[in-house]
Amino acid sequence: MVDRRTLLLRIVQAFSATGALFLAYPFVKAWLPTFNQQHTLEVDLSDLKIGEIKQVSWLGRNVMIVRRTPEEISDLVEDKHELKDASSVHSRQPALAANQYRSLRPDVFVVYSNCTHLGCEVSASGTAASFNCPCHLSEFDAAGRVYKSAVAPVNLEVPDYQFMSRKILLLVKRA
Ligand code: FES
Repeated sequence: MVDRRTLLLRIVQAFSATGALFLAYPFVKAWLPTFNQQHTLEVDLSDLKIGEIKQVSWLGRNVMIVRRTPEEISDLVEDKHELKDASSVHSRQPALAANQYRSLRPDVFVVYSNCTHLGCEVSASGTAASFNCPCHLSEFDAAGRVYKSAVAPVNLEVPDYQFMSRKILLLVKRA
């Protein structure tokens, strides 16, 4: 049986522990990552002209946002026998980009800039008609689709995103 003194001691200990938790909460919260902020990135496209590319850093990777020219868009609908994965069946993209443009809007292409071979940063040649990897010279077309002659196994990866408006893009990392 618990005597009165022990009971009082336990009650005081319980209150102390609860108080300590309340005091610690703001400090612990400040150390925790704010997932909503970190897992989205808003990108303003109002200054992105046709044929230009914007690059942003997001979650430790670089993302290229390309404003395609009308010629690049029409070129993408042609049959491409020289591509390894023309329909992107074996490549990574969200459902919104599972089409011949690999994008939600034909005129705006969003893609991670890591080569799918060993991860080097690819660069766009000229406008965005193609992407080239400097490490082992893999080439990709204006939709990030890899050519058969390249060592990169699949197309460049497309991140998940949505448009908040015509000029505002939101990169989204979904669980
Ligand atoms: S890392 Fe790009 S081709 Fe090897």
